[in-house]
Amino acid sequence: MSWQATVVTLFPEMFPGPLGQSLAGRALENGVWSCRTEDLREHGLGRHRAVDDTPFGGGAGMVIRPDVADAALAATQADATIPCVYLTPRGRPLTQADVRRYAAGPGVMLLCGRFEGVDERFLQARGVEQVSIGDYVLSGGETAALVLLDACVRLLPGVMGSEQSGVEESFSDGLLEYPHYTRPAVWDGHEVPEVLLSGNHAAIAQWRQAKAEETTRERRPDLWSAWLARKNENRTAAVGGAAQADLRGLRRIPT
Ligand code: ADE
Repeated sequence: MSWQATVVTLFPEMFPGPLGQSLAGRALENGVWSCRTEDLREHGLGRHRAVDDTPFGGGAGMVIRPDVADAALAATQADATIPCVYLTPRGRPLTQADVRRYAAGPGVMLLCGRFEGVDERFLQARGVEQVSIGDYVLSGGETAALVLLDACVRLLPGVMGSEQSGVEESFSDGLLEYPHYTRPAVWDGHEVPEVLLSGNHAAIAQWRQAKAEETTRERRPDLWSAWLARKNENRTAAVGGAAQADLRGLRRIPT
């Protein structure tokens, strides 16, 4: 059974787009995943197939109607166990943990908005997750959907080489990656950090860990605080566990 991406959009021709190339494209050809689209316009109302209307309460822009969005969702006949995700700058930020959860399941149903958004009643009534790919506003959810799919597809079994799964591991410990260098050892007068040429694997690992921590502290104070908090929690748990073992007489306390 392949991993199933279903996308409800006004622009079905935007899919698979760039995901028809490279690793994701090969996986698509090999049936590792599939990409279906449902054209929202086909469920529009009247002669003009209207999908949107003016917002209650006034204001700029148009809102996608709940009945139209629901008809499109029903037409996909997507399995009810598949997470349904609406891409919107109002959503919670997409994380690698979400991506891992989506990739581990049977697939995703993605709803791409245009205009001001989708009627909130539809999103609530159908249990739609609202997800943002970052704190900026795109012209529509399609490019955000492509980003989400790319992040999921690379995690599907057999899509990536083993060396790249290591990259995922290193991000998943909560730190940004250390910097990378390759030949030539001196380029334009700039040298590669000496430790990387030393052949001392322990020293290299230590240097990379220090660089990962330094980069995260400088660039992502949010990730850095979370990482420190987790580290402290682990330390407290380890100390607490050892103390409990001592209390139960499981470990002899040197006198
Ligand atoms: N649609 C418009 N902007 C978006 C964003 N930042 N994330 C997800 N969907 C969007």
